[in-house]
Amino acid sequence: MSARRKIVVGLTGASGAPYARVLLRALAERARTRGDVEVGVCLSSTAPEVWKLECGGDVREEIGFPIWGLRDYSAPFASGSAGWHAMAVIPCSMSTCARIAHGTSDSLLTRAADVMLKERRPLIVVPRETPLSVVHLENLAALARAGAVVLPAMPSFYGKPASVDDVLATVVSRVLDHLGLDNDLAHRWGDKR
Ligand SMILES: Cc1cc2nc3c(=O)[nH]c(=O)nc-3n(C[C@H](O)[C@H](O)[C@H](O)COP(=O)(O)O)c2cc1C
Repeated sequence: MSARRKIVVGLTGASGAPYARVLLRALAERARTRGDVEVGVCLSSTAPEVWKLECGGDVREEIGFPIWGLRDYSAPFASGSAGWHAMAVIPCSMSTCARIAHGTSDSLLTRAADVMLKERRPLIVVPRETPLSVVHLENLAALARAGAVVLPAMPSFYGKPASVDDVLATVVSRVLDHLGLDNDLAHRWGDKR
């Protein structure tokens, strides 16, 4: 396997595209300065619309990493044998949670997530919906039982974030932690201010 950590980032049509933007910027900075990550991106069919509404602009022009087609199963991370290390689905809609929880593999994104589960590699799901129905909760529990890390888009405030980006970083920092990437994106409990 490669020395570089190979990470898949999946974006769906849940509200919360700015979380994905903060994550992708952090990964781009790390790729530039440390060169120890390789990133592949896949989008659900609804993700570009929500990105445009919440971040402005065209997601395909703003992401500096390869974006694979909706059902392009020639992407290396569509198979476990290619050895991609971890995946984050951020933000993750309830629809995509349901499809991953039930192993549908009906798009590159859900197939890549299925690969992470079957290979017992980290899959970090960042769900965004409120309130949550029993259907949502049961799908999230199924994901957790299958080995995914359910890391909700629930920011923390004990670090006294001063901007929206700081608020977003409280979630994205934890996503990076679970992807196995050390980071100082957000204040940590116990840090001196
Ligand atoms: C602006 C906007 C915001 C949305 N926010 C959410 C959300 O927070 N959570 C969610 O589960 N679905 C949300 N949806 C609905 C999903 O986009 C929709 O269920 C879609 O089918 C999800 O498909 P996907 O998972 O393939 O992206 C939103 C849709 C739009 C247009």
